[in-house]
Amino acid sequence: MTTQEIVPKILSVGVKDWDRRLFDELIPLPDGTTYNSYLILGSEKTALIDTVDPAKSHELISNLEKAGAPAAPIDYVIANHAEQDHSGSIPAILDLFPNALVVTNEKCKGFLEDLLHIAKEKFLTVKDGESLSLGDKTLQFHFTPWVHWPETMVTYLKEDKILFSCDFFGSHLADSRLFVQDEHKVLTDAKRYYAEIMMPFRVAIKKNIEKIETLDVRFIAPSHGPVYNNPRLIIDAYKDWISHRLENTVVVAYVSMHGSTRHMVDYLVEKLIAKGITVKPFNLTRTDLGDLAMALVDAATVVIGAPTVLAGPHPAAVYAASLVNALKPKTKYAAIIGSYGWGGKTVETIVNNLNNLKLELLEPVLCKGHPREKDFQALDRLADEIAAGHKTISV
Ligand SMILES: Cc1cc2nc3c(=O)[nH]c(=O)nc-3n(C[C@H](O)[C@H](O)[C@H](O)COP(=O)(O)O)c2cc1C
Ligand SMILES: [Fe+2]
Ligand SMILES: [Fe+2]
Repeated sequence: MTTQEIVPKILSVGVKDWDRRLFDELIPLPDGTTYNSYLILGSEKTALIDTVDPAKSHELISNLEKAGAPAAPIDYVIANHAEQDHSGSIPAILDLFPNALVVTNEKCKGFLEDLLHIAKEKFLTVKDGESLSLGDKTLQFHFTPWVHWPETMVTYLKEDKILFSCDFFGSHLADSRLFVQDEHKVLTDAKRYYAEIMMPFRVAIKKNIEKIETLDVRFIAPSHGPVYNNPRLIIDAYKDWISHRLENTVVVAYVSMHGSTRHMVDYLVEKLIAKGITVKPFNLTRTDLGDLAMALVDAATVVIGAPTVLAGPHPAAVYAASLVNALKPKTKYAAIIGSYGWGGKTVETIVNNLNNLKLELLEPVLCKGHPREKDFQALDRLADEIAAGHKTISV
């Protein structure tokens, strides 16, 4: 790796993790990711904005050496967020630059003490809106709580109009190019990132976008993925994702052991398509959960397809329902379909697992064994109900 320049004296010194395929032991990363760290060479002081995953500390240090360290020491390490993919190399930086101070807010300081055991005296805490001078460059700190932890903040470099937004607006995309080149690709990976990390915090995100829009921003430099030289691209995408706009789309997340639930799913999918509805089926034992999460960003309806196993829904369907529940999409309708042999609490268990969501539950369709004519009729009614519901949504 090498360093890249956003503008003179502002270097990207982070690390591209081309090979990483899973994040938080949960989220698939088809395009790897990056841990971005930025070096700001002020006339008086030098600041490093965030660090990198601890597994990659050596690469960050090597990049800093290429940029002139340790002859040019780091005075401040700005911690916008305490999660270890950005804070985890702070101890290594403090070892290398013993006089450096970690600049962050009080809440983040507490987290860093707990997570990384950084000593109290190493911190310089800042308040919302406070500035820090590096000589000819000024950093301003703006608190943006809950994107996606309670302590998150962003740093604005006033003279160059650069917003260092950390996870906010990020994308899991390793790309050799510093700036966004392929907008479609970046927006796809940013949407995947939003779905998994940010979607549960839509209300907080709205407030924080309003706050950020009061700043004059020329570049958004997030902590994952390329730098936006057209900030509107990602700000407008976020505004759409958090808006009330729903698409005429049904997500069907299902599992089937012996094909009965699968047969119901296939029938329903065909009926919905015939009604002009976009359908996104996800076989839960095959699917990339990131694709499922992305589909949930705008879908008006989610259908869970689950056979009954050991008196309840198949565990893969429970997992999917808990994931939907945790991600809190704006989905308006939900339905449960599936096949059983003799009985169990399939519907109740899935409904309990969706209890975070303010949605309208449509009549479930459970069938005994392989679906018969009356079961297909019940699926016809469900398709009608979904289509009628979708007529009422703003698309
Ligand atoms: C391991 C296993 C456990 C099952 N446990 C139950 C159960 O507790 N209650 C029930 O009604 N059916 C149970 N069944 C029967 C299935 O729900 C039934 O065969 C259903 O049609 C399977 O749907 P599928 O073809 O979509 O997999 C079980 C089946 C298997 C293979
Ligand atoms: Fe994070
Ligand atoms: Fe992150």
